[in-house]
Amino acid sequence: MCGIVAYVGYRPALPVLLAGLRRLEYRGYDSAGVALVRPGWIERHRVAGPLDGLVRATRRVDASATTGIGHTRWATHGAPTVENAHPHIDCHGTWAVLHTGIIETHEALRARLRRRGHRFRSQTDTEVIAHLLEDAPSQDPPKAVAWATARLEGSFSLEIVSARDPGRVVAVRLGSPLVVGLGVGEQFIASDVPALLPFTRRVVYLEDAEQCEVTADGIRLERAGRRRRMRIETLRVGETEAERSGYPHFMLKEIHEQPEAVAAALQGRIDLARAQVRLTEKGYGRIDPRRVRRVVAIGCGTALHAALVAKRSIEGLARVPVDVVAASEFRYGEPVLGPGTVVLAISQSGETADTLAGVRLARASRRPVLAIVNVPGSALTREADAVLPMRAGLEIGVASTKAYTSQLVMALLLALDWGRQRGTLSPSAARALLKGLVSLPGALRRTLGLSGTIRRAAQRFAKGHHGNFMFVGRGYNFATAFEGALKLKEITYRHAEGYGAGEMKHGPLALVDARLPVVAVAVRDTVRAKIASNIEEIRARGGNLLVVGTEGDHALARRAGVFFGIPDLPEPLTPVVAVVPLQLFAYHLAVALGRDVDRPRNLAKSVTVE
Ligand code: M6R
Repeated sequence: MCGIVAYVGYRPALPVLLAGLRRLEYRGYDSAGVALVRPGWIERHRVAGPLDGLVRATRRVDASATTGIGHTRWATHGAPTVENAHPHIDCHGTWAVLHTGIIETHEALRARLRRRGHRFRSQTDTEVIAHLLEDAPSQDPPKAVAWATARLEGSFSLEIVSARDPGRVVAVRLGSPLVVGLGVGEQFIASDVPALLPFTRRVVYLEDAEQCEVTADGIRLERAGRRRRMRIETLRVGETEAERSGYPHFMLKEIHEQPEAVAAALQGRIDLARAQVRLTEKGYGRIDPRRVRRVVAIGCGTALHAALVAKRSIEGLARVPVDVVAASEFRYGEPVLGPGTVVLAISQSGETADTLAGVRLARASRRPVLAIVNVPGSALTREADAVLPMRAGLEIGVASTKAYTSQLVMALLLALDWGRQRGTLSPSAARALLKGLVSLPGALRRTLGLSGTIRRAAQRFAKGHHGNFMFVGRGYNFATAFEGALKLKEITYRHAEGYGAGEMKHGPLALVDARLPVVAVAVRDTVRAKIASNIEEIRARGGNLLVVGTEGDHALARRAGVFFGIPDLPEPLTPVVAVVPLQLFAYHLAVALGRDVDRPRNLAKSVTVE
């Protein structure tokens, strides 16, 4: 949450900061600001609203400053106003601070600083840091920052500049991600790699509780006062990955990238001849599936829905019981993590605060953590005992799409591998599923061909002014209904709920009338007949039915007002493809309703605060 960038070097800092912020807007877009360090003073520009306003406001700014910091905000403390926009300064304008995350002790600090005569101008938790720095016994930036951060509690990352030291930026990571980009005679810092891509591929990920001092000539990393040798990594990301490449929105681009993302997840991991899966990544081989007695799968939002599908595939194929818990509940619950329990953490970003807290809880209980994660170098990749990288590439759209389908594929590979090793899956059954997996990119491409039909249907529903939508599914596609509803609500702002279709008569059926669109996922699988009955019950009450079914299922198509047919697939694989029409429907409905698809209100991409 919140995008932050910093630059120090020989170029004018402002265009670098604005270019970086443009690529971080998905992390927050409530307000934006920059601080440029001039000899002896700091020049600040801040606007309420998205980055475009800041670009306009700084059009005529003198471009000679070569050090600066920039921020795009997702508000936590204080409304999205200019006064609350970052960077924040101390009473004399010597220090400028920007921050992502939360300072939990800010109220007590603010009261104490006020008593000492400091004047506050915003409602943010961030401003206390600027005033704390003013009180630091040493005004040397690295020392002052170390002194101030020792007095802060919370989860955050900071970028700080001082007018007394124009060629230096100090950054701190405590819970929220930060990455330093290395150049020649210039350096960059950002909360996420897309901001660095136009400038460098050489990066150093900050470890937790680490402070970093950056000048044009180099960087210095310290943890608890001790210097750390830096480990330089090379980003294997094409620059255009962070661009829309002709698509009107990142979300649409990422929906269309799903065949390639799934192919990348499968690459080199399937051995058809031996009917086996090859997973060789960090720590994976150290978990013996024959000794696993139980899995607890955690995640948030879309990743939580992926965990629900993973439950089906791991229980179905490997016969290991799986409990699914929202990470935000798991971390504050009293989970019983007995011997033989593996915690499976699923996350696109690998930085979601609740998921990471759940991982730390599991590790404190000495239970192994296996992570399905997309972003290389993220906290989850470092903290988990074993990692299954998804390889979906950058996902920038706030509404997660390709990460979800890749998470499902990774869970299937895991279930297949464990099933073979535990002897619960025969070679012939495994081979059939592996062949199905290989066919997935083609099935996804074919389903994406429905885009025009789905767009027209969505446009009709937009004209119908429907305020509520219901999604139903069963079996392997129980969670597909939840995911379809989540996509719709987060980008259209229409109310949508997902239900198990078998649960309808226990209450939700009361909602059904001719005004209510009901989206049913009813592919050809072992519960097809059951959900067909549920569909009849909805029809009998006049429900406005859209059905995602299997191509050629004419009986079902006749009963639906709108029918989207997907290719026939082995049952455990159907959720990977059945969700695509729902993603497209939400997308086209949002566009028809005039929503800002890539910047849904109140949301941001990585939820690094509680
Ligand atoms: O990065 P993560 O997968 O851990 O993120 C989890 C959720 O915040 C995320 O899936 C969120 O629900 C998306 N906006 C859904 O589209």
